[in-house]
Amino acid sequence: MNAIKLLGTGRHVPSRCLTNDDLSRMVDTSDQWIRERTGIVTRYLCGEGEGNTSSALAAAKTAMERAGVGPQDIGVCVAATFTADHATPSLACELHQLLGFAETTPAFDVNAACTGFLHALETARCLLAAGRLRAPCALVVGSEALSRITDFTDRSTCVLFGDGAAAAVIRLTDDAPYACVLGARGDTQILRAGGAGEMDRFIHMDGPAVFRFAVDAVPKCIDAVLSQAGMTLSQVDHVICHQANSRIIDYVVRRLKAPPEKFYKNMDRYGNTSAASIPIALDELLEKGLARQGQIALCVGFGAGLTWGGALLKL
Ligand SMILES: CC(C)(COP(=O)(O)OP(=O)(O)OC[C@H]1O[C@@H](n2cnc3c(N)ncnc32)[C@H](O)[C@@H]1OP(=O)(O)O)[C@@H](O)C(=O)NCCC(=O)NCCS
Repeated sequence: MNAIKLLGTGRHVPSRCLTNDDLSRMVDTSDQWIRERTGIVTRYLCGEGEGNTSSALAAAKTAMERAGVGPQDIGVCVAATFTADHATPSLACELHQLLGFAETTPAFDVNAACTGFLHALETARCLLAAGRLRAPCALVVGSEALSRITDFTDRSTCVLFGDGAAAAVIRLTDDAPYACVLGARGDTQILRAGGAGEMDRFIHMDGPAVFRFAVDAVPKCIDAVLSQAGMTLSQVDHVICHQANSRIIDYVVRRLKAPPEKFYKNMDRYGNTSAASIPIALDELLEKGLARQGQIALCVGFGAGLTWGGALLKL
């Protein structure tokens, strides 16, 4: 019993929708530039009374409801985020309280930036596989409030990011293939945020350098997952890439000579929601009926650190 079965997913984005036209009234940019260079059209930002926890809570409730599980069924709660409402307690502990998990259910956050959901998923899977948790399911959340660390006077970053959350309830299965690769290049300069200084707290990024990293790392990561599983891309039903830039996914599709329809895209509506982007895409695919129970998805991400990772999931 080593593979991951997805029992239910849910997503939530905050209420304030920011369009490219809105941004072009704030900084020197245009709808055309943003669409052509990134594929992004709208993104959602936290408004009054909204935050990381409120989005994550709504997403987690939906995921648990769709999975047909209650708090007693959750053996561990892992949240991927680097923009929790508090440095401590963690987002996972806030969810633990709000969802009424048992005291013997551990809860903690992981930070692997935009690859965070995959690190959280593999961490939860390993804990489930170790067999010492009180219950057989894990709640895995990816959630960000990136607007708090976005400099809305910097056109090179503010057009890219959005807030949002998604959650997945998983259990183990022996009825599916499994493979997972995770790694980091140990770069701390190309993409960083959240420092103590006034400007240092904002996202700073060398965009073209991140782009070069992504188009190198993502195809390698997909190849590594497939090779570990002894599979080919044709045996995978969906590839769910981190939704940072439509051109990155197009490049990966060309490089792998893959059918583009296998690679879901939704950055047009949400922008880059970091750790939430992969589970938001998963949830949409399932909700729209574009993916079916029992299919196999290969999820692949990259982000600050520079982190990367990929894993197989049975839907
Ligand atoms: C950020 C990104 C969209 C920039 O696109 P690009 O094609 O690489 O563009 P460049 O940064 O080379 O900039 C090209 C020009 O557009 C300008 N520009 C940058 N942002 C702009 C904006 N929002 N509107 C209009 N012009 C902009 C630049 O100033 C530059 O002008 P110049 O040629 O006069 O110097 C792209 O590099 C990218 O997506 N990188 C990956 C980022 C990412 O995924 N980050 C998160 C990782 S998890």
